Amino acid sequence: MADIYQDLTSNEWFYPSSGYILSETDSNGIITYVNDLFCEVAGYTKEELLGQPHNMVRHPDMPRIAFKGLWDDLQSKGFWTGFVKNRRKDNGHYWVYATALRRERSDGSVSYLSIRVKPARSDVEACIKLYAELKAQE
Ligand SMILES: Cc1cc2nc3c(=O)[nH]c(=O)nc-3n(C[C@H](O)[C@H](O)[C@H](O)COP(=O)(O)O)c2cc1C
Repeated sequence: MADIYQDLTSNEWFYPSSGYILSETDSNGIITYVNDLFCEVAGYTKEELLGQPHNMVRHPDMPRIAFKGLWDDLQSKGFWTGFVKNRRKDNGHYWVYATALRRERSDGSVSYLSIRVKPARSDVEACIKLYAELKAQE
């Protein structure tokens, strides 16, 4: 089995103090929209991102239960907030504080939006510990 950690670097991209990283998916989590900051931060072009599953930016340090919570909350409550470590194309990473929303149009179609802002460093430090513990239980 390929080692999912082998190419990762410890380079962190730090969120600027302003700006929003936005993305939208269809009901299956396929990316349908990204803004310019998303591309800059993740290191991909729009063309590379659109039509791909959102786990394209998944970092292996993220515990599975975090995304189970995201999808469960989107179904049951229509929204989710949480801290996410994402992987950049260059194998570095970045942390965000994300709010995801379920959007139902009048024709019944469902899409999901995520808006991400700069996380407090103290929250990132707490999540590094928590997510490592959760990963260890997988
Ligand atoms: C609107 C929206 C935004 C998402 N943003 C991210 C993200 O930034 N990073 C990420 O790893 N997963 C994100 N996800 C969750 C992914 O769809 C997926 O569940 C997760 O990456 C785990 O994938 P896996 O179980 O296939 O490994 C998002 C999902 C939705 C609906």
